[in-house]
Amino acid sequence: MSEQQAGNGGRPGLLMAGAYPEWDMQPLEAAFSVHRLWQMPDREAFLKAQGPSIRALGTRGDLGADAALINALPNLEIIGCYGVGTDAIDLALARSRGIRVTNTPDVLTGDVADLALALILSTMRAMPAAEAHLRSGGWSKGPMRLVNRFHGKKLGIAGFGRIGMAVARRAGGFDVEIGYFARSPKAEGAARYFDSLVDLARWCDVLVVTLAGGAGTKAIVDKAVLDALGPEGFFVNVSRGSTVDEAALLSALESRSIAGAGLDVFLNEPDIDPRFLALDNVSLQPHHASGTVETRKAMGQLVRDNLAAHFAGAPLLTPVA
Ligand code: 8YV
Repeated sequence: MSEQQAGNGGRPGLLMAGAYPEWDMQPLEAAFSVHRLWQMPDREAFLKAQGPSIRALGTRGDLGADAALINALPNLEIIGCYGVGTDAIDLALARSRGIRVTNTPDVLTGDVADLALALILSTMRAMPAAEAHLRSGGWSKGPMRLVNRFHGKKLGIAGFGRIGMAVARRAGGFDVEIGYFARSPKAEGAARYFDSLVDLARWCDVLVVTLAGGAGTKAIVDKAVLDALGPEGFFVNVSRGSTVDEAALLSALESRSIAGAGLDVFLNEPDIDPRFLALDNVSLQPHHASGTVETRKAMGQLVRDNLAAHFAGAPLLTPVA
């Protein structure tokens, strides 16, 4: 290996596609020669000059790694993804180049499920609108409009993997009936299986999406699903903005053909469609389901442990198949 490939001081070159918290950067800098891509004034020039020295790429679920970036790194060995979703990583290209990919499952499941419950309650109880009513002085002019209850309702969960099941376990405390949509039935308590998302949407009062993003689920929540959910139905998304036909969702929310939505994810993050901001029947979050100190520390540790395992020749902790 040339000196350039070994990186500065013999430490392997690590390219960071986006920021991690400072508590991750210190240990990463101790082990790697770290380059911050998002701070490079001329990204192309940097990649041309330093691309061959990069052996590891640190990215995030929301940023991924596209073909252009991977192709600019001819000696890349491993991509560490800070996040469970790898839909924005060109996995086929990584596989064809023998580049290993790791993600951070499990450590964030509880937080994402917690936020799904928070969004269900916040949306059905119209908490943002109620708080705006109080803050604007509207309360002294009249009472807040009546809202909807969650307990006792029917909860539909699209995607019944780790996160979907964790949502179901939490929702058990609200005496709801639970149904789910997945490729095949899973044995999990009394939850009812639906092989059609439209049928699940027609059955439930609240539809929560926990599906992985990617080509297989692109716009799977379309106008037909939203129509089936109907004017009394609520929609919550903690997966990826790509799983929803966003134009259909916006028009359903504007026309009240669904009752409301709790959204942590969007197309075009962070510059989301401004039509969302004009709605009073939504509860919005900035893609922050895993954004607790506890979980982000565990995610950073897992990224570092995977990178350390790779460079020590040890088995990866959480490789992406
Ligand atoms: C993070 C995520 O928001 O796990 C995922 O797939 O999208 C999130 O947990 C993200 O990776 C951190 O920026």
